[in-house]
Amino acid sequence: MDSQKIQFFLLTLFFHYFRTTHADTTLATYIVQLDPHGTPSSLFNSKLQWHLSFLQQTISSDDNNPSSRLLYSYRSAMDGFAVQLTQSEVEHLQSLPDVISIRPDHKIQIQTTYSFKFLGLNPRGEDAWFRSSFGRGTIIGVLDTGVWPESPSFNDHGMPPIPKKWKGICQKGQAFNSSHCNRKLIGARYFTKGHLAASPSKIAEYLSPRDSSGHGTHTSSTAAGTSVAMASVFGYASGVARGMAPQAHIAIYKVCWFNGCYNSDILAAMDAAIRDGVDILSLSLGGFPVPLFNDNIAIGSFRAMENGISVVCAAGNSGPIAMSVSNEAPWIATVGASTLDRKFPATVHMGNGQILYGESMYPANRLMSLGKELELVYLTDGDRMSQFCLEGSLPRDKVRGKMVVCDRGINGRAEKGQVVKEAGGAAMILANTALNLEEDSVDVHVLPATLVGFDESIRLKAYINSTERPLAQLEFGGTVIGRSSAPAVARFSARGPSFSNPSILKPDIIAPGVNIIAAWPQNLGPTALPGDSRRVNFSVMSGTSMSCPHVSGITALIRAAHPTWSPAAIKSAIMTTAEVTDHAGRPILDGDQPASFFAMGAGHVNPERAINPGLVYDIGPDDYVTHLCTLGYTTSEVFTITHRKVSCHEVLGMNRGFSLNYPSFSVIFKDGMRTKRFNRRLTNVGNPNSTYSLEVMAPQGVKVIVKPRRLVFDHIYQRLNYRVWFISRKVKGGGSMTSAEGHLTWVHSQNGSYRVRSPIAVTWKVK
Ligand SMILES: *[C@@H]1O[C@H](CO)[C@@H](O)[C@H](O)[C@H]1NC(C)=O
Ligand SMILES: *[C@@H]1O[C@H](CO)[C@@H](O)[C@H](O)[C@H]1NC(C)=O
Ligand SMILES: *[C@@H]1O[C@H](CO)[C@@H](O)[C@H](O)[C@H]1NC(C)=O
Ligand SMILES: *[C@@H]1O[C@H](CO)[C@@H](O)[C@H](O)[C@H]1NC(C)=O
Ligand SMILES: *[C@@H]1O[C@H](CO)[C@@H](O)[C@H](O)[C@H]1NC(C)=O
Repeated sequence: MDSQKIQFFLLTLFFHYFRTTHADTTLATYIVQLDPHGTPSSLFNSKLQWHLSFLQQTISSDDNNPSSRLLYSYRSAMDGFAVQLTQSEVEHLQSLPDVISIRPDHKIQIQTTYSFKFLGLNPRGEDAWFRSSFGRGTIIGVLDTGVWPESPSFNDHGMPPIPKKWKGICQKGQAFNSSHCNRKLIGARYFTKGHLAASPSKIAEYLSPRDSSGHGTHTSSTAAGTSVAMASVFGYASGVARGMAPQAHIAIYKVCWFNGCYNSDILAAMDAAIRDGVDILSLSLGGFPVPLFNDNIAIGSFRAMENGISVVCAAGNSGPIAMSVSNEAPWIATVGASTLDRKFPATVHMGNGQILYGESMYPANRLMSLGKELELVYLTDGDRMSQFCLEGSLPRDKVRGKMVVCDRGINGRAEKGQVVKEAGGAAMILANTALNLEEDSVDVHVLPATLVGFDESIRLKAYINSTERPLAQLEFGGTVIGRSSAPAVARFSARGPSFSNPSILKPDIIAPGVNIIAAWPQNLGPTALPGDSRRVNFSVMSGTSMSCPHVSGITALIRAAHPTWSPAAIKSAIMTTAEVTDHAGRPILDGDQPASFFAMGAGHVNPERAINPGLVYDIGPDDYVTHLCTLGYTTSEVFTITHRKVSCHEVLGMNRGFSLNYPSFSVIFKDGMRTKRFNRRLTNVGNPNSTYSLEVMAPQGVKVIVKPRRLVFDHIYQRLNYRVWFISRKVKGGGSMTSAEGHLTWVHSQNGSYRVRSPIAVTWKVK
């Protein structure tokens, strides 16, 4: 650790101790946003000087070094700074001219080889990988927990040279220096100030871009990892591991530490990434949905979008609760999670002859015959929360040598295995509860273990209860591909409608996020638990964190094939070509029901089709500004989000009946309303001479009128408009239906492979 860092750390610690003794001297971190047009820049030598002038006016002269309170000065992702202030200083700062918003810093959380085959990408033949040269030359900036640069997935063999436009750096730090970057990993930075200000005593990890937890190594290799032959996790899922865009470059921005990711650090990373020259920002992190003018990722990514950067974010893991989707700004691609058709069966053979299906990646020989029969135990000491196998809750004499049943919840899945093992248990059965039902994220447990669904867990517990000496054995079945219906929506995947903006259908898309295998730090066990001494180059994780980099990588493929397309055009290509049926041609499921658009957005990503969509719905930065006005945001709120001074009153006057040119439709009938009209504009990116005709599946209870019903293009990049009316047929008070779904698809008349599909979600709102 370099000595400056230690010093800073100790000083901050002292500072906090000292400060907290008086009520109004407690410091907290704030993100202060300024009006970039406010003060003539000629008054100051630099943005930094201008930012510091606010501190000089705010912080009393007793504090002899106000600038030490400044954490970051932002100029690209937004105009403003992050600073530590007392409550009274905040009040004073608020009154100064040019200060447009002051937001307390909050932390958010990170939301874990084969997926390329599942998505239909094939290294041989004329396909998306070939058309895009495997994403050659694009730069994906990944904001995450850092990277393990020695992983074979970041080898730069066969990589093209670093793009000339790249201005990033390979920041030196603990166990990390410039020699760790190469033509694959072209940049690395780390951001600690927000984190240290909030939790000065917790930095027991690499103070550098190096990954201490595995998450960032996993996500960045999913987006753009190099091909690695013979990748597997202890023999499971063996094959070639490869990111979605194997010829794209990666730049790592470490913003997440063990206790989370602070917005002040995230904004600083976005600020740097915009100047560094990334093409895509991949953020596998998120919190709860918040209004856009309080959403730092939405604000930073607006500027990124204006600079032509595609921003791809995880939708969050708070599903299946409605309105849980986060990162919902319309200029962000919001990605939910789907399952693969790959299973890791590990069945439970109970003493009564019954067999329970379960899944696990415990490293047993896949041909292993039935293991030893063990005594089953399910402890339900409520005070100690034994049923969850919390640390210290399992009495050694009750679990020694036994197969312990642990309910899901409270602590981590792999951690429960560690607790059972430390208490002397011989094996574990993880039992899903009513909260997680059939959710099937597997782990590489530290002892023989399996995960069973909710129904199975009821049968298991009934058997345990029915006999004096319940017995069971585990059987590990290796890796089984293609026998389950997939993709399906992952239960944990966050759901719409969007909390802050229900007029935009979110999430946008789903992509693989369950049991994803990708690169792993070489000093961690596959569970990342401190006691796990096993070593692997690949491990398995589940979450919308894993789905996000799949779409980031696919975005890189499309950019490489179509370098002039805007972020909105690329997102449109991904959305309008998505699949709404599974590999067997049946509707994509969510549990045992067909998935709604609020679970899967436009559907499951299909890179092969996305690279050649025929038509795209394009959106320019000004359109988003008008859209925000139509949502009823005030002029100052619009200013906070976009840094643009507009009078919403005038904007709306000039854009009567404006609708954002989004590739999906969210139609809301508020009480009494009968008709909603939308305008859309399609850009021809397929064959120059193309005629498209319309296919509509009207949502139940809604009449859909489209004009015109045919679009005749005669050159490339030509734009044609159409209008849609949605007319509610529901009579007031009649019927209990509150939502319905349909779609609107433009089909190429000569080539039926071009199908440009938009989902329609209709909601009736009764006061
Ligand atoms: C960087 O670190 C490696 C070891 O991790 C060391 O071999 C190398 O000399 C260092 N390079 C520089 C430029 O400091
Ligand atoms: C176990 O059996 C007892 C009596 O046979 C019953 O009251 C109890 O509800 C059962 N518990 C479970 C979890 O099945
Ligand atoms: C991980 O990869 C490195 C470099 O390719 C190799 O030397 C090492 O043996 C691998 N480790 C495991 C556990 O496979
Ligand atoms: C498109 O059609 C027009 C007239 O129908 C024709 O003149 C033109 O050559 C065609 N363009 C292409 C690229 O086929
Ligand atoms: C038909 O459309 C598909 C894209 O969906 C495209 O790959 C193919 O080249 C097109 N065929 C012709 C003859 O244009």
